[in-house]
Amino acid sequence: MTLTSALTDKLDEPHLVAAGGFINGKWNTVSSRGKVFRVTNPATGEVLAQIPDLSTHATRDAIDAAYAAQPAWAALSAKERADLMKKLHRLMVEKADDLATILTLEMGKPFNEARGEILYGASFIEWFAEEARRIYGDTIPGHTANTRISVIKQPVGVVGVITPWNFPNAMLTRKLAPALAAGCTVVAKPAAETPLSALAIARLMEWAGFPPGVFNIVPGTDAAAIGEELCANPKVRKISFTGSTNVGRILMRQCADGIKRMSMELGGNAPFIVFNDADLDAAVDGAIASKFRNAGQTCVCANRVYVQAGIHDAFVARLKEKMEGLRVGNGMEEGIDIGPLITDKAVAKVEDLLADARGQGASVQMGGTPMGEATFYPPTLLTGATKTMRLAREEIFGPVAPVFKFETEAEVIELANATEFGLAAYFYARDISKVTRVAEALQYGIVGINTGLISTEVAPFGGVKQSGFGREGSKYGIEDYLDIKYLCLAV
Ligand code: SIN
Repeated sequence: MTLTSALTDKLDEPHLVAAGGFINGKWNTVSSRGKVFRVTNPATGEVLAQIPDLSTHATRDAIDAAYAAQPAWAALSAKERADLMKKLHRLMVEKADDLATILTLEMGKPFNEARGEILYGASFIEWFAEEARRIYGDTIPGHTANTRISVIKQPVGVVGVITPWNFPNAMLTRKLAPALAAGCTVVAKPAAETPLSALAIARLMEWAGFPPGVFNIVPGTDAAAIGEELCANPKVRKISFTGSTNVGRILMRQCADGIKRMSMELGGNAPFIVFNDADLDAAVDGAIASKFRNAGQTCVCANRVYVQAGIHDAFVARLKEKMEGLRVGNGMEEGIDIGPLITDKAVAKVEDLLADARGQGASVQMGGTPMGEATFYPPTLLTGATKTMRLAREEIFGPVAPVFKFETEAEVIELANATEFGLAAYFYARDISKVTRVAEALQYGIVGINTGLISTEVAPFGGVKQSGFGREGSKYGIEDYLDIKYLCLAV
């Protein structure tokens, strides 16, 4: 187990990361199978760390630790849990620069964007620390004169969380925070590409003084084995997953036998609609923000840009002008807007989708070929996109903006909803009647109206259809980690 100087030399506090699993309050630096895996910087190919490649045994140990720790954690007062969470929040904010450096090095997103993710991640810890004290129940008038009915809420128990590489900090804290606030304990499996950000959170929790076993991390490349243990082990009462719809389906099948509770934040295929009466500049800025955040590697990125005929040419010209100003490069350098894609496989997927679109007549206005260095891909603008192209149905997960021209409101609503996904949608319009109609007609869990940025800890994030179920953030987010119990008292 090692951290290399390519990582530690860039940190003010090199001890922020330990290269191992974190189980029952101890750093597990050796895999029982003697295996290690490498974490590399996608911008440079440099090795940042070698981590013990943990699997089923370590997962079982972590679950046992979480199971043993859960009753005492739940028995603390809400204020005691909240106070520890507030300490963690303070540490995250204090160490935001180092946490952002770790994130940029292992994932690639530009440093300022990474710092934004750290503060976004910390905001969930703060929000749910506050929510811990508002887990209210109810009293219900009894059904007979001598009964008294009340409703209490109790923690679900041990939660298995499986998090993706595109937001290695915030997707973890968005699950961890409501779980801790509710009185649950957690076993986390971070993505093998980006385990360091999660390990840094464990370090901060250690420094904040969380009891052993409350939070455990199992880093490893054998996602199938770790996931299967989390889903099959009867001590785990809930799984919260962010990732692809296909993996979500597998996890649901594995959880079926144990009738486990689940929260699923799965794939998206966001339409971004610009009507003729839109504020053109605002729509272009929104498209840039939504499409190019994290190099297009988010579940809520604009995937299909629909522009009404009357504004189409002006929008495309303005969008191209703005896209020409975006700088691609190593996220640790100043002034970079777009970092590398996560892997060669991600580049190949973008290439495949573009080849298909070109073959069906889409025209490339800019970009469209890999930059030939690492996994950098240029911002790419396509016009003449149509519904038969694969990129109309599949998540691009890259900096490619395909523009589809449309004529009528009814037509674009039908096109926008013609997908099995239903996470985020966006539209720009000024007519208030149309705004109301379109917002209600879009079959999505999140709708951005005249904005391209919808992510915040105060609102419920989550999808409908095959984008999943459950909500993260907001007052709704904690409900996914609580069981309702009703007490019927005869007096
Ligand atoms: C995601 O891509 O899964 C999450 C993006 C966000 O929270 O904004």
